[in-house]
Amino acid sequence: MTFFSRKNGALHVEAVSLNEIAERFGTPTYVYSRAALEAAFNAYKDALTGRDALVCYAVKANSNLAILNVFARLGAGFDIVSGGELARVIAAGGDPAKVVFSGVGKSAAEMRAALEAGILCFNVESAAELDQLNAVAASLGKKAPVSLRVNPNVDPKTHPYISTGLKSNKFGVAFEDARSLYRRAAALPNIEIHGLDCHIGSQLLDPAPAAEAAEKILGLADELAADGIHLSHLDFGGGMGIQYSDEAVPTAGEYLAAILKLTAGRKEKLLFEPGRSLVGNAGLLLTKVEVLKPGSEKNFAIIDAAMNDLMRPALYDAYHDIVTVNDSSAPMQCWEVVGPVCESGDFLGHARNLQIASGDLLAIMSAGAYGMTMSSNYNTRPRAAEILVDGATVHIARKRESVSELFALESVLPA
Ligand code: LLP
Repeated sequence: MTFFSRKNGALHVEAVSLNEIAERFGTPTYVYSRAALEAAFNAYKDALTGRDALVCYAVKANSNLAILNVFARLGAGFDIVSGGELARVIAAGGDPAKVVFSGVGKSAAEMRAALEAGILCFNVESAAELDQLNAVAASLGKKAPVSLRVNPNVDPKTHPYISTGLKSNKFGVAFEDARSLYRRAAALPNIEIHGLDCHIGSQLLDPAPAAEAAEKILGLADELAADGIHLSHLDFGGGMGIQYSDEAVPTAGEYLAAILKLTAGRKEKLLFEPGRSLVGNAGLLLTKVEVLKPGSEKNFAIIDAAMNDLMRPALYDAYHDIVTVNDSSAPMQCWEVVGPVCESGDFLGHARNLQIASGDLLAIMSAGAYGMTMSSNYNTRPRAAEILVDGATVHIARKRESVSELFALESVLPA
C-alpha cells in the first residue's frame, strides 16, 4: 500500500488530499499516516515472529499522544527518557510494565515516578545513577529493575551528533567497567538486575555495526552468567535508518537478521528501541510558499515552515525531500527553501529544483521523526498543528498553538 500518493495531480496522505488539510487546518502542519505507522511497526513484529521479543518505541522520535496510542494498540512497549515521556505514555494508554527508561541524567523525582508506575526496566548509565536509584527505591520500599547501558565502543558510521556508542560519547558504562559494576549492582539491596542494554547511534544504514555491538553484548552476558548474574532480557537499542533521499536502506528483517541469528536459542527476551524507523517516513510537514525572492546568486523560496518547526536541516545539515503538493506549470527553477526565522541557518532545503509560485503548497517529506518533538517557539512562532490521517478520516492529533498560549505562563513586573 502506498501511504503518500499523487491522485488527480494532488498529493494525498492515504485517501485525504493535502489541499483539504491545508484548507481546513492551515499551514505549517505535520501530517501522519496511521497505516504507515502500523506498517512500520508490523515490519518489526513480522521480523521477530516466533521470538520472545518486545519492541519499545523510542518516544523522543515523536511523542504525540495519538501516535503513542496507535503503537500501544499494537502491543508496543516504550523507551522513554524523562518523566514527561512517561506521563505521555500513560496518558496515551501505554502499559507502564512495557516501559524502559533510558537517559544519562534521570532525576530522583523521575525515578520515583517510574518506580511507582511499575516500569519494566531502568537502563542505568553510570555508577552514581545506580546508587541514586538504589536509594530512591529504598525510600519507597521497592526494588528497581535494572539493565546497565553498556557502551560497546562500536563506530555506527553515522552523523557524529547522533552516534552514541563510541568511547568518546557521554552515553553508557564503559565496556571494560561493566562486569564489575554489575557485581556492585547485584550487591545493592534495592536493585534487581534484569538485563543488559546498548544503543550505538541513529540513522544506521548498515546492519554490521549493530551486529558487532550485539556480539559484544552477548559475550558480556555470558561472562555475567559465569559470575552468577543471570539476565532476563537483552536490549539492543534503536538506530535503524530510513530513506531520506536515494540511500539504500535495509528492511527491519534485514536489519535484525544478524542479531536474530546471533541470539538464536538464547533464553533472554529481546528488546529493541526503534524510534525513527517507526515514524520517520510516516509523516510530512505541509507548508506554503509565502514569498519568492529570486536573486542574482540564489533564488530564495520563503515558506511558512522554519527551523523552529523542523530543526534537522539547520542542526545536522539533514536532507529532507521537498515536493510540490499540486502539479504546476510554473517554470522549473533552483531554489533555496528557507523559513521566515531570523537566522541564516534557517533553511529546509538547499538548491532544490521546483516548479513553484507564491501561495503553492509544499510537502517536506520524511518528517515524522524528530520533527515536532524538536520544534520550538523561537521567534514566538506557534508550533504547527498535527494531523493523523486514517484512511479517509482526519484526526486532529494536536491543535495549532495560539500566540496567547505562548506567553500564558509569563508575567510582567507589578506596577
Ligand atoms: N534508544 C536510545 C537510548 C536512544 O538514545 C535513541 C535515540 C533511540 C533508542 C532511538 O533511536 P532511533 O531508532 O530513532 O535511531 N535528533 C536526531 C536523532 C537523535 C537520536 C537520539 N537517540 C535526528 O533528528 O536525527
